[in-house]
Amino acid sequence: MSDHKLCPIAALLSAAEKADHPAAIGAFNVNFYSQAAGVLKGLRRSDAPAIIQASRGANRFQGGPDKIAYMLGRAMEQSNHRLPVGLHLDHGDPEKGEECADSGYTGIMIDASEEPFPENCAITRGMVAYAHPRGVGVEGEYGQLLGVEDDVHAEKTVYADPEKVAAFFEKTNADALAIAYGTSHGPNKGANIAQLKTEVVRDSYRNMADAGLTDNHFLVGHGSSTIPQDIVAEINQCGGDIRGAQGVPMEKIKEGIAFGLRKINIDTDLRLVITATARRFFVDNPSAAGCETLRGVKEALDAKLDVIDPREYLGSVTPFELLREPPDGPGVQEFVDLMALMEERIAQHVAFLVEAFGSAGLASSVEDVTVEDMKQRYARSDPW
Ligand code: G3H
Ligand code: 13P
Ligand code: ZN
Repeated sequence: MSDHKLCPIAALLSAAEKADHPAAIGAFNVNFYSQAAGVLKGLRRSDAPAIIQASRGANRFQGGPDKIAYMLGRAMEQSNHRLPVGLHLDHGDPEKGEECADSGYTGIMIDASEEPFPENCAITRGMVAYAHPRGVGVEGEYGQLLGVEDDVHAEKTVYADPEKVAAFFEKTNADALAIAYGTSHGPNKGANIAQLKTEVVRDSYRNMADAGLTDNHFLVGHGSSTIPQDIVAEINQCGGDIRGAQGVPMEKIKEGIAFGLRKINIDTDLRLVITATARRFFVDNPSAAGCETLRGVKEALDAKLDVIDPREYLGSVTPFELLREPPDGPGVQEFVDLMALMEERIAQHVAFLVEAFGSAGLASSVEDVTVEDMKQRYARSDPW
């Protein structure tokens, strides 16, 4: 591993809470090396702290939590990234949570949101009991987002009840809580936008403040991609076929942040940027479709015009990226060029997002604490 220390998630979220303006930490899902490198590059441009997160699917794709932690360490080392970054499991279960807590992650999301409230609290509290003694933070989820999140599928939005949010924290001592307020995962949020209820965030935060919880406990907004329409248009102009894609309007995200969200989850926006870059690359470089390293990518894009998940078309080339020096050989330069383009375009979008979330410039406000320090703090605050 590199000597670039990962930051506890509580320290990151606390910096957003204490900022002198409404602020939230961006939490970006990553699946492969250049995606992580692009996020880090955007953060450096904005002097922003952030959370890099990996779902169970991302962990499978890279071969496990230790591989993801290694991948992020390499990306930080390669770019001499010195700003505070946390590594978080997204939508985990207890088994994967324990594995990640033992593999260098600084935060674990335990998603038991499909369970009734008491069971959800009990499962989340169990994760806290495992993670906190190891200095690792925990995020729970309450309410259900419409659509698909890893293995969890919900038919309709189940809004979080603001009256129960303080109780969730009191029963679990989780660091963070994803509350369902009407957003959904993926690129087609259109039907849900009319049902967004940012007042769920406002009232939840007020109840937390009344209970004295806001210093160490933080609200999270999932399903927050804005789905840039110019990127969707670019995908379609370059051979893709994405229909009805619509995101959360940025003013709604900002309203949610003003009302108390401190972590904003983004996955789909980056998938779209990556897909637009790949499709544009083959239009601009037709001969690349024939080269050894990229043929499979082009074929997968041609076979599924609405694909946006890079794992579905980058699979054959990903292991390459972790090598210290790419091997010489036919097609390697084209591969390196494509990855560099992805990195740059991801960086641009990440810089734009963290500016909008109010976390640009906050890097130096993050308290310099380690996972070791957090073990002591949690030992004092966990009542069991
Ligand atoms: O919440 C879902 C995230 O976008 C992760 O998606 O499970 O397909 O990696 P994934
Ligand atoms: P999007 O699909 O809107 O990017 O949401 C990502 C997310 O919530 C990851 O947990
Ligand atoms: Zn999510």
